[in-house]
Amino acid sequence: MTLHAYRGEILSLAHDPAEAPDAVRHDPDGVLVIKDGVIVARGAADDVLPRFPGVEVEHLPGLVVPGFIDAHVHYPQLDRIGSHGEQLLDWLDRHIFPAEKAFADAGHAGSVAEAFLGELLRHGTTSALVFATVHAASVDAFFAAAERRNLRMACGKVLMDLGPEGLRDDPASALAESEALIAKWHGRARLTYAVTPRFALTSSDEQLAIAGRLLADHPGVLLHTHLAENVREISEVAERFSDAADYLDAYDRFGLVTDRSVFAHGVHLPDRSCARLAESGAGIAVCPTSNFFLGSGMFDFAQAEAHMVRLGLGSDIGAGTSLSLLHNGGAAYQAGLFKGYRLDPFRALWLATGGSARLLHIDAKVGALAEGQEADFVVLDDRATPLLARRTAGASLAERLFAMQVLGDDRTVRQTYVLGRCAWDRDALGSAP
Ligand code: GUN
Ligand code: ZN
Repeated sequence: MTLHAYRGEILSLAHDPAEAPDAVRHDPDGVLVIKDGVIVARGAADDVLPRFPGVEVEHLPGLVVPGFIDAHVHYPQLDRIGSHGEQLLDWLDRHIFPAEKAFADAGHAGSVAEAFLGELLRHGTTSALVFATVHAASVDAFFAAAERRNLRMACGKVLMDLGPEGLRDDPASALAESEALIAKWHGRARLTYAVTPRFALTSSDEQLAIAGRLLADHPGVLLHTHLAENVREISEVAERFSDAADYLDAYDRFGLVTDRSVFAHGVHLPDRSCARLAESGAGIAVCPTSNFFLGSGMFDFAQAEAHMVRLGLGSDIGAGTSLSLLHNGGAAYQAGLFKGYRLDPFRALWLATGGSARLLHIDAKVGALAEGQEADFVVLDDRATPLLARRTAGASLAERLFAMQVLGDDRTVRQTYVLGRCAWDRDALGSAP
């Protein structure tokens, strides 16, 4: 297989800047050398290129960063973004559950999955941890579409035996269908299975125990659910699990709090939960635009940092208002300021790349543009709009990155590469991801 080199300005984070210094890896004139979709060399062009005489070199016009990794998103909610008027529980009843019922139809699921993956690539997102619906066919449709595009994706059938009429499974079918989906998809191509109880209120104790059993029986699968998002939700959980120490404990008693567990939101957490999350290695997908949109609250970055809770970044479409993890990084900064925390732009980039990769257990494969990793990357355009061009002219790297987080969106993504191949080019006429 031939080698191919991409030359340009390259930026990535080697680890969480909040955990240790020297996390930023910046090559102003850098190069990625790629073989069979994998990065075999990275560094300053003057150092690396002489080691590969005759290699074909392509120039990348922009700031090259790892492909974004969305740690929490619902593909069936793509067409419900911007549904007006309710906080979480009423929003689910009025807007989301009716839309999810349509995913019993495999054809509908397949067409939304295609549109969703196209949108992810247009926004620079190359991996995600994704909610399907309660229907096994919705998971088949998603994984088949992701496999065709060679994407590294995680997904699972939603478990919800206490859900509304028409969107409900039962413990036995939840177990059987999840087992079958794990056997079919987990570890195939670039795919990971996630056991996905919707949240504590939509699963019986019996079903939560089944989720714990699935997790224990299948090393490598993830656990994906929601936690402590909304005040009314939390009080209903406290009422049902009256002997639990807190919301997280309601999951913990069923074996659902592990280093493979990803909890979306965690907006209202007692210190006990944060300590337990850190001790277990479980992570929180921070979903700032969703937390604004549903009036859920502001994530407490200082509390999470004090406990060293692992964090990633999620768009949480359709409660979130943008699939752009640049934009969600800017929103995370604003949420942080409400509680006196100044989210550094490099840490916001880490949350959207290496942080999310660690939550999804794919950090050996993607997220840092390191040698040996798969070549999923994005070319950002810090002059994508006239205003962005004015704001970034003559600015430092940190200022340029922050400006793209505050002002950026899909227009800021010039190209998206998957395994070293261009999967989206904003400027190619007639292209569709
Ligand atoms: N909690 C339970 N289900 C959902 C959902 O679909 N979206 C959000 N944001 N929170 C949830
Ligand atoms: Zn969600």
